[in-house]
Amino acid sequence: MADVQRHVARFTNDSRIPGWDRAADLDKEPAVVPDAATTEVPAELRAAIEDGMRRFPIGDSAFIPALYAVQEHYGWCPPEGIEQAAAVLGRTPAALTAVATFYDMFEMEQLGRKSVYVCTNISCSLCGADELLEALEGELGEDPDVNVRGFECLGACDIAPMASVNGIYVGPIGLSEVPELARQIRQGDDPLPARQLVKRPSADPKVAEK
Ligand code: FES
Repeated sequence: MADVQRHVARFTNDSRIPGWDRAADLDKEPAVVPDAATTEVPAELRAAIEDGMRRFPIGDSAFIPALYAVQEHYGWCPPEGIEQAAAVLGRTPAALTAVATFYDMFEMEQLGRKSVYVCTNISCSLCGADELLEALEGELGEDPDVNVRGFECLGACDIAPMASVNGIYVGPIGLSEVPELARQIRQGDDPLPARQLVKRPSADPKVAEK
């Protein structure tokens, strides 16, 4: 059996998550809600956040669509984008940052706009996800436009080993298909159309149109 052991990054106190071991700064000024009247927010971003607020009106449920809107606008979640979203939502940037840093799909650093998340959880791992991730990193790792990374279960274990390519679920992906997939990602083409989850036959013949 091939050696599929990978190095798992560890941070201070053996944490797998960077920053969780950082002590709170008790001398910091209390966070405030940015002034909606003076905080400039790009019109397109404001419209996307307000649309989310209409669709998710209860509690803080509009945080996730707001953060997605920030990430879509800037390519990541920069402090000024969080500040702008906080102004529109009427909440503190810290509240939004807490959500953004909890969920894996929000990027807190500027990375490539094209995302390739390779699932490395148990089902995918048993079907060769580690080798798949390595092969995709080898093809695309140097490309500044592409963010290739491992991800925990993406919830499509029946098509293991799989990846989410700009949000499109593709799998099972064979190692021999990696060069073609990398070319499609670089050129902005549809990734492995025959392997896309959304195009699989279903008991509902209209499922792909929904
Ligand atoms: S283990 Fe890969 S999608 Fe669940």
